[in-house]
Amino acid sequence: MDIAKLVALLLAHPAELSNYYGEFRVPGPVRPLIAIPTTAGTGSEVTPVAVLADPARATKVGISSPYLIPVVALCDPELTRSCPKSLTAIAGADALTHAIEAFTSVRKSPTPELAQTQVFVGKNAMSDVHARVAISALAAHLAQAVEDGNDMQARAQVMYGALHAGLAFGVAGTAAAHAIQYPVGAETHTAHGAGVAALMPYVMEFNRRSRIPEFAEIARLFGVASVGDSDALLSRKAIDAVDALFQRIGIPRSLSELGLSDGQVHVVSIQAMQATRLVNNNPEALDEQAMRRIVDAAQSGDRSSLAAL
Ligand SMILES: [Fe+2]
Repeated sequence: MDIAKLVALLLAHPAELSNYYGEFRVPGPVRPLIAIPTTAGTGSEVTPVAVLADPARATKVGISSPYLIPVVALCDPELTRSCPKSLTAIAGADALTHAIEAFTSVRKSPTPELAQTQVFVGKNAMSDVHARVAISALAAHLAQAVEDGNDMQARAQVMYGALHAGLAFGVAGTAAAHAIQYPVGAETHTAHGAGVAALMPYVMEFNRRSRIPEFAEIARLFGVASVGDSDALLSRKAIDAVDALFQRIGIPRSLSELGLSDGQVHVVSIQAMQATRLVNNNPEALDEQAMRRIVDAAQSGDRSSLAAL
C-alpha cells in the first residue's frame, strides 16, 4: 500500500522521492488510490503516511501528507487468511501499538493553523473513539486470530481493529515506541511490528504516571478490571495485560531478544531522539537521559527500573 502511495505520488508529481520526505511536502493531489490491505496491521489504507527504505539512509523515512490518504479502503479479512501465525501476530501487535500510542499521545491546543502546519494534529475526541474500538477489538481477538488462522470471525475483528487504529494514529500520531523502533529496525533488520510491540510495555511503564486515566481505560477495554480497582492499580494492570498478550502471541520481550547487542544501545538511544515529531508526541517528556533509561530497560527486559522513577 505504501508503494502504491509513492507510485500515485510520482505519477502526479514526478521528482526524486527525497523531495517529499517529511510533512506537507507533497504539492497537490496524487492519483486516486484504492487501498486493499492483505495484512491486518499498518492501517496504511486510511493514513496520510507512506514509509520507505532509502538505501542512502540508515533508518526508514516517511512522507506524510493528507494527499496520501486513499480515496477508498477495501478491507476484506479473507485476504489475510493465508498470513502465517508470525505475520498475523506482528501486524496485529503493530496495530495495537498504534492504538495505544494514539490514545495516550499529546493533546495539542486547537488553533486555526494546526491542520495547516501539522499532518498529525494530535489526540482528540474522535481519535480516542477510534483508538478505543481498536484496543477492544484487538484485545479480544488478536490471540485467537494468531492461534487459529482460519477463524474468520477473529480475523475480521483484527482487521477492523487495525483499520480503527489507523484512523486513530492518522490523526493523533504515534510516539516513543515508534521513535525507538526506527533505529532498532535499522540495527537488527527485524520487522517493524515486532520492534514496536517489544518496546510498548517499557514505553507504557515510562509514560504511566502521565496517563493514568487512559491506562485505566485500556485495562477496562482489555477486560482485566475488577470492581473497586483504583485507576492507579488499573494503569498497572493495563501494562501487564498488553505484555501478556504480546507474550502469548510470541512477540520478543526485550530488545536483546530481538537481536540488539548491548553495544548498539547507545546509538539506538541517540537516533531515537532524532525522530523529533514522535519524541515530542510522547506524553511524558523525553530527553537523552530518559530515552536511554527506556532503551536500557527494554534491552535488559526489566521494566522495574522505569516503574521506580
Ligand atoms: Fe507501526
